[in-house]
Amino acid sequence: MTEVNVHAPDGYRILIAPGLMDSAGGYVREVTKASKAVIVSDDNVYPLYGAKLTKSLGEAGFSVSAFVFEHGESSKSLITYERALRFLSRAGAGRSDAVIALGGGVAGDLAGFAAATYMRGIDLVQIPTSLLAAVDSSVGGKTAVNLGGLKNQIGAFYRPKLVICDTDTLNTLPEAEYINGCAEVIKHAVIGSEEMFDELSRLPVHKQYEHVITRCVRMKAEFVEADEHDTGARMALNFGHTAGHAIEAASKYSIRHGEAVAIGMAIVARAASAFGYCPAELPDKLDALLKLYSLPVQTDYDARTLARTALSDKKRRGSRLTLVLPRSLGEYSLESIEARDFEKWLRAGGVK
Ligand SMILES: NC(=O)c1ccc[n+]([C@@H]2O[C@H](COP(=O)([O-])OP(=O)(O)OC[C@H]3O[C@@H](n4cnc5c(N)ncnc54)[C@H](O)[C@@H]3O)[C@@H](O)[C@H]2O)c1
Repeated sequence: MTEVNVHAPDGYRILIAPGLMDSAGGYVREVTKASKAVIVSDDNVYPLYGAKLTKSLGEAGFSVSAFVFEHGESSKSLITYERALRFLSRAGAGRSDAVIALGGGVAGDLAGFAAATYMRGIDLVQIPTSLLAAVDSSVGGKTAVNLGGLKNQIGAFYRPKLVICDTDTLNTLPEAEYINGCAEVIKHAVIGSEEMFDELSRLPVHKQYEHVITRCVRMKAEFVEADEHDTGARMALNFGHTAGHAIEAASKYSIRHGEAVAIGMAIVARAASAFGYCPAELPDKLDALLKLYSLPVQTDYDARTLARTALSDKKRRGSRLTLVLPRSLGEYSLESIEARDFEKWLRAGGVK
C-alpha cells in the first residue's frame, strides 16, 4: 500500500492499493468518532461495491446506511443535494457522524458538499472509484454542486478526513471513463514530470494504477499544500482547461471533460511553441501520447466561437486570463494575458 499525506492544519492521508475496500472500515474507524456512516454513491457504483463497503464498515462498528442517486452529472444538482441532506436527517445522522463518498467525481463533489454543510460540517471520507476521482477530484478539498447549467457554482472547500483508493475498483470502469481519466493523468505528467511522461508512453496507465495514481496525488497534494484555495500555484492544474472548458461549453457538454482537456492541452502546447515558450518537438510528443490513449488533439470549433465562449465565462471574473504554458516536459509557467488576445492564442494553437 502507498500512503500520501496532505500536510495542512487538518491534514489527511491518501491510501492507495488494490483490495483496500475489504479493510476500509478499519481505516475509517481511525479517523472518526462517528457511530453512523452514511454512504453516498450512484446507481452504477453502489451495486458493485456497496455491499463490500457496508460489510467492512459494519465490522468496524459503524451503523451503515446508503443514499444512492442516479449516475451522471445531472445529479450534481441542488435537488439531489437536498435529497441527500434529508436522507442524512432521516437517518438520524448527528454532528459527530460521517459521510462516505463512494464513486466518481460526481459522488465525491455531491457527498463532499453535503458533508461540508450538514449541521455546519460532519466528517467526510472519500473513496474514489473512477480514475478521474482517484487522481484529481478526491484530493484537494473542493466540493460543489451545479446551478442549472453553471458548473460548480455552489460549493465549499472542505477537507476529507481520509481518502481510500482501492485500485481494484478501476477494473470495472467503462473504457470511455478510463480514457477520460487518462487525460488528467497526462496533464500531471506534462506539468510535473518528464520521467512520468515517458513512463506513460511505455506502459499504459491501467497496467500501473498504483504507481500512476500515487505520482498524480503526490503532485496534487503539493499544489494543494502551497495554495489550498486555488488563487496561485494550484492554477497549474488548469493546464489545458481554459480552451478545454470553452470546447466543453461550446459542445453543450456533449464532448467529455477529458477529451476537451486533451484538445485544450494540445492547443496550448502548439501555441506555446509558436510563441517561443517551449521547444517545437513538445507539442508533437504531446499529440503522440494523447493519441496513444485514444484522446483527440483537434477541434472543429473555430477560434472566434471558442474565444467568445471563454470570454462569456470571464465576464464574471475580469478581463485577464491565466494560461498554463509548458516550457519543457515537466516544467510550466503561468502567463497572464488579456482575455481579448485569447483568440490569437487559439489560432497559434492550430484552431481555424
Ligand atoms: N472536486 C474537484 O476538485 C474536481 C476535480 C475534477 C473534476 N471534478 C468533478 O468530477 C466530476 C467528474 O467525475 P467523474 O468523471 O468521475 O464522473 P462520474 O462520477 O459521473 O463517474 C463517471 C461514470 O463512471 C461510473 N463509475 C465510476 N466509478 C466506476 C467503477 N469503478 N465501475 C463502474 N462504473 C464507475 C459512474 O457511475 C459514472 O457513470 C465532474 O462533476 C467534475 O466537475 C471535481
